[in-house]
Amino acid sequence: MLVDVVSIFPEYLEPLRLSLVGRARTAGLLEVRVHDLRTFTTDRHRTVDDTPYGGGAGMLMKPEPWGGALDAVLAAAPPDGPHRPRLVVPTPSGRVFTQELAHELAAEPWLAFGCGRYEGIDARVIEDARTRMPVDELSIGDYVLNGGEAAVLVIVEAVARLLPGVVGNAGSLVEESHADGLLEYPGYTKPASWRGLDVPPVLLSGDHAAVGRWRRNQSLLRTATVRPDLVAALDPASCDARDLVVLAEAGWVVGPDGRFSRGQPPVSH
Ligand code: 6GU
Repeated sequence: MLVDVVSIFPEYLEPLRLSLVGRARTAGLLEVRVHDLRTFTTDRHRTVDDTPYGGGAGMLMKPEPWGGALDAVLAAAPPDGPHRPRLVVPTPSGRVFTQELAHELAAEPWLAFGCGRYEGIDARVIEDARTRMPVDELSIGDYVLNGGEAAVLVIVEAVARLLPGVVGNAGSLVEESHADGLLEYPGYTKPASWRGLDVPPVLLSGDHAAVGRWRRNQSLLRTATVRPDLVAALDPASCDARDLVVLAEAGWVVGPDGRFSRGQPPVSH
């Protein structure tokens, strides 16, 4: 996969040389090219921002440097490869980046990221880019960052680990949180007893079916407690009879619409 990143802080992307993403790059599974937006300014002060038409607080990024930068990215298409990238513009106004989207982006041969700063980028940049490549405006969550760079680090890490050969144990990709719409069960390693805390005995039993059931129950209960939104989005058809019992004990029943909803609370005596 080829990844281009345009930013006024190219050094912000240096962590993409570390750990798993860095190893994917040295292994030739991923190529990352970082471009300094100021390279595409034409004035003496290398200006990238200006005041918003209509007034209001803060500054916006000017369209001209972005036009030049995206032209340059397109002009640097790999020989015998895709002729245009899928452009991702991180913004708190975008649709939310999810594991499903990470899988979708991991299937692309070429991604480009445009990092906004200040109050965002002149809206015509996206409009113009859409005439030449697919564009996704993505948010990594409901909070505000100062710019898109940290979001690019998040998105590239989530995507790169899905590329074939990047994560050593492919099983860790299917078992992890969000892989099946549930949070992951708690994990334990040696020693079996630590500071008076024992590993749940079922994990030492050697009974693989019992271990599997215990882990599934833990996933269901943790999800019901901390992410009720994920339970409401679960397909009841993905649940077995014992899942339904565990969820019912946590207060979730399948309603007449065929979806999970919080049932009547048990009568207290
Ligand atoms: Cl993608 N960008 C910025 N600037 N802030 C954010 C965000 C992205 N996602 C959440 N907050």
